Amino acid sequence: MSKAFVRNLYESYAGASGPDDFFGQVKHTVAGKTVSDEQISMIVEAVLRGLALEPADRILDLCCGNGALTTRFFAACEGGLGIDFSPTLIGVANKHFVRRPQESFRLQDVLDYVRCAADPSLFTKAVCHGGFQYLPRSDAQELLELLHRRFTNVQRVFLGNLPDRNRIDAFFGTRPRAANVEHEAASPLGIWRSIDEVEALSAACGWTATVRPMDPGYYAAHYRYDVVLHR
Ligand SMILES: C[S@@+](CC[C@H](N)C(=O)[O-])C[C@H]1O[C@@H](n2cnc3c(N)ncnc32)[C@H](O)[C@@H]1O
Repeated sequence: MSKAFVRNLYESYAGASGPDDFFGQVKHTVAGKTVSDEQISMIVEAVLRGLALEPADRILDLCCGNGALTTRFFAACEGGLGIDFSPTLIGVANKHFVRRPQESFRLQDVLDYVRCAADPSLFTKAVCHGGFQYLPRSDAQELLELLHRRFTNVQRVFLGNLPDRNRIDAFFGTRPRAANVEHEAASPLGIWRSIDEVEALSAACGWTATVRPMDPGYYAAHYRYDVVLHR
């Protein structure tokens, strides 16, 4: 089952990284080395700008990992909630990245959360950075539909770090790749979707998707893209 594969994968990354190597734990690495703070700042800037995050906003961070990015989003607004299904990563988030009473992290599958959230009207913005690609088509569609229908105060959703189906060769080059890896949620990089595919999927769920240019100096800009969804 793909969810178990992905959960185990991130549990293993977290276990193999040092306790303070927060960005190594969520695989912000190149050739096994954790990327620089400058690279992480590019991600944070992209999300803050893409969401137009303001002090009064409350943010929902889906697939938040260990909260090392989430804490920077929280700091730019009123707070919010991070959800992830990796027990190790949520343990790190709760230990290191809860700064105010209005900031919290929860161990849960993101789809289960959006189906059952008791307080959806609390949130005004949402982000899913580096996680959407692990949702198979039906789950991805249900997630976007529920965000639209239940989270009625959410005005923008940032889907970040999506691997681009049309630039898969720029990542793999001549390296070996499993057959059909681009369609496989249960793989290290998840499903490679084209921009057209994400636009169509978003439109089917009531959202308009706008592709955001990545900083050309960002380490994955040659094969990934960001999208902001508007109502
Ligand atoms: C690449 S990490 C991204 C973490 C963080 N958002 C970041 O960009 O640094 C992907 C995360 O998605 C989480 N994830 C994948 N599928 C999930 C699901 N169905 N429910 C909850 N978390 C999920 C994994 O546990 C992992 O922490």
